[in-house]
Amino acid sequence: MASIVLRKTLDRISGEENVKHFLKEQGVLYEHWDTTKLPEYLRDSFILSDEDKAKILETFDADIQSLAQRHGYKNWDIVALSDATPNLDELLKKFQQVHVHTEDEVRAITAGNGIFTIKGNQAAGYFDVELVPGDVISVPVNTPHFFTLVENRRVVAVRLFIDAAAWVAHPYEDPEF
Ligand SMILES: [Fe+2]
Repeated sequence: MASIVLRKTLDRISGEENVKHFLKEQGVLYEHWDTTKLPEYLRDSFILSDEDKAKILETFDADIQSLAQRHGYKNWDIVALSDATPNLDELLKKFQQVHVHTEDEVRAITAGNGIFTIKGNQAAGYFDVELVPGDVISVPVNTPHFFTLVENRRVVAVRLFIDAAAWVAHPYEDPEF
């Protein structure tokens, strides 16, 4: 289950109901998928063949279809990052700049970990959402955010798009960050 840290106060929000309640207040979609459905070898693999990726998508097909129908997502794929990823350091540097998109950024973590830092309402300010396998998050369109990995530097996630071609990061200069 995801856990949240408010950057202003370092207060931590944990527990399913508290996390769901907070993210709902901030307009961030959050749900949790059952990763025990995933074959064991895929729960800890970060270098994936096309067959592995297809297996992950097949395993979560009902969850993906449901999410896609509810929010208008049209296509999806798998992203895997680890120390085996060429230029991981450069990629992470690029990721860690506050930006916005003209559509939702949707990630369902199927292995590993990640953190979305998101700009909440005036009272909340920026907060970190620490994600574990099964966590599904959608950063709303035009919401300043960035993504990074944790110390283990590895993640596998399903990405869902309305229009993958339009999914571009627009830098967001924020004196409040
Ligand atoms: Fe983004």
